[in-house]
Amino acid sequence: MALREILVWPDPRLKQKAKVVGNVDAAVRRLCDDMAESMYEANGVGLAAPQVGVHQNVIVMDVQQRTDKEGTRHKGEGLFWLIDPVLKFAESEFTYTEGCLSIPDEYEDVTRFGHIVCEFTGRDGKRRELEAENTLLSVCVQHEMDHLQGKLFVDHLSALKRELIKRRMKKLKAQREAERKGEATAL
Ligand code: NI
Repeated sequence: MALREILVWPDPRLKQKAKVVGNVDAAVRRLCDDMAESMYEANGVGLAAPQVGVHQNVIVMDVQQRTDKEGTRHKGEGLFWLIDPVLKFAESEFTYTEGCLSIPDEYEDVTRFGHIVCEFTGRDGKRRELEAENTLLSVCVQHEMDHLQGKLFVDHLSALKRELIKRRMKKLKAQREAERKGEATAL
């Protein structure tokens, strides 16, 4: 397994639509595993392939992560992948405060469908269905499916809010770039 760099918005690669995977071969399984490792490393609950610059319909998710009384973070219990997901049913509304690994430290309320049924292919290549209603899972599935369409949660906000966040992200990217260059000079 290998860590993959998570792109920070604004980046044209995050606006690009992902393509259908179809057959789950060894390369797709490797991508699945790399994405899981990258998601856990970044302390996220979901990650879509375009966020690591790969334009394929692959999502990794684990919304069951929890920290116990001893402070140990439990990861992996709710780990699964959605390849070529399709919404089969969607109704009602649910509002949740969302964040995104590609938009660090920004959280805003987004209203999406409340009750969904999603059909997808698992890492094992089998087609299956999941149903979720008004939970982090129902939110996360729709948030990650948006990424496959080149859409981010900021696209659900007002233009003003989006521009303010974009400005902060550009500043963050400039800071990170300066740090990277500084480190290179120090070597
Ligand atoms: Ni996201």
